[in-house]
Amino acid sequence: MSNLFDSHGAPGSGWSQPAPIMDATQVSLPAELVRKKPARWPRLSESEVVRHYTWLSTRNFGIDTGFYPLGSCTMKHNPRVNETIADLPGIADLHPLQPERHQQGLMAIFHEMQNMLAICSGMDEVTLQPVAGAQGEFTAIRCIQEYHRSLGQDGRDKVIVPDSAHGTNPASAALAGLAVIEIPSTTDGRLDLDALRSVVGEDTAAMMITNPNTLGIFEAEISQAAEIVHSAGGQMYYDGANFNAILGKTTPGLMGFDAVHYNLHKTFSQPHGGGGPGSGPIGVKSHLAEFLPSPLVKRRPILSTDTGAIDEQWWYTWYEPSKSIGKVQQWHGNAGAVVRSWAFFRRYGHTLEQMTEHAVLNANYLRHRIHQCAEEQGVEGEFKDGSPTGIVKHEFTLSMLPLKESKGASAMDVAKGLLDHGFMAPTVYFPLIVPECMMVEPTETETKETLDDFAEAFVKVLQVDAETLHAAPTSTPVGRVDEVYAARNLCLRHPIDD
Ligand SMILES: Cc1ncc(COP(=O)(O)O)c(C=O)c1O
Repeated sequence: MSNLFDSHGAPGSGWSQPAPIMDATQVSLPAELVRKKPARWPRLSESEVVRHYTWLSTRNFGIDTGFYPLGSCTMKHNPRVNETIADLPGIADLHPLQPERHQQGLMAIFHEMQNMLAICSGMDEVTLQPVAGAQGEFTAIRCIQEYHRSLGQDGRDKVIVPDSAHGTNPASAALAGLAVIEIPSTTDGRLDLDALRSVVGEDTAAMMITNPNTLGIFEAEISQAAEIVHSAGGQMYYDGANFNAILGKTTPGLMGFDAVHYNLHKTFSQPHGGGGPGSGPIGVKSHLAEFLPSPLVKRRPILSTDTGAIDEQWWYTWYEPSKSIGKVQQWHGNAGAVVRSWAFFRRYGHTLEQMTEHAVLNANYLRHRIHQCAEEQGVEGEFKDGSPTGIVKHEFTLSMLPLKESKGASAMDVAKGLLDHGFMAPTVYFPLIVPECMMVEPTETETKETLDDFAEAFVKVLQVDAETLHAAPTSTPVGRVDEVYAARNLCLRHPIDD
């Protein structure tokens, strides 16, 4: 089957809808918005519609169809039990405007999630409002901004980021009206404390950094960095995109951070291809808590009427912190995403650190296996480590620069070549400090067999001639697209009106 809109089907309506309550011709609309002729809707039977969407779904690649080692994006298996729980009528059928007494179950989940996230990050308060990591960053930076203002330090208008930072860090700071100062990393991709010392001062609002960093390397000197920033009066912001490497082992709180975002859709599983649905809660230390966006959930014990003793029943209420920056999202954030991630969290419980251990083990195994396969095939010179050698955390980078220099095939060509082997490509060209970068994150949910297959496919791609690689992929529903043209000439609807 091809495009639904190219199929005009049999004569007739192709749909059955109740008659409209009012005659649309009686509604006065601006002339330029009124159709000149009827829309060319396709006429299709139900079975054709079902076939169309089923066919469409087979043209897509997702974590349910194959390995998706997208570095930094943490594409892991989404346990189906999460869906079952999010689909329970007491959760799925709730409307956010229902009174608190109808929402006690969902609010209990929110409260537990706030607490679990606070514990595993070493923060004091958590809001579940933001719906993306980037929105969490912006929200936390706004809280930090208001905190400085409350101390009469309005002049703190600079945010420091390392050159390995994700683009959303400087973007979030800029969106809050702050200036961004980028500091270079050391030659092995780590935080440069001297560079940091040279830029902190009375105008420092915050430093934004992720740990392990975007090369998958743990910044062992992070506490010293926090000391440098704090002694200048600034705040430390932790980009939680790399939580998969540290959960249950250490916390941003222990490292000296004041605020953090969590990407629930990464670390805590969530189908999030194509931009959603996400959830990017933030956690903060107590001095920032009164600025958090509302609403948060708190609880009080219900006293037993007989004895006056607490009988482990709780009553949950929404509340707004005293100096809240206001709302950053409608209703209560992305409630469905919170519930799914809560279910994931609960399944691990106290064994959560196993997730981290397996994620780190898988990354190190895959990196080792890629080198081993390359050596066996005599192509180890075609790439080099982008991350320093030794143990990485949950992800690693490779530089395809040698391949580009030897035969003119780029990181993008290798990425496209991998698609022809049935694998989603790793992240390419990020972080910017690694030339011809490929960033690989297998996650804890992949088997050794999958990792072995990927390593072998990767090495096979390195042996393909450049001309063939330039033309890849050839086995996917859509071949190589002109991404710049697509981004600049957005076409978001089918032209059904002509
Ligand atoms: C290191 C890092 N920080 C922040 C973000 C932003 O997260 P989100 O895509 O949820 O906005 C990402 C996303 O990939 C990331 O990799």
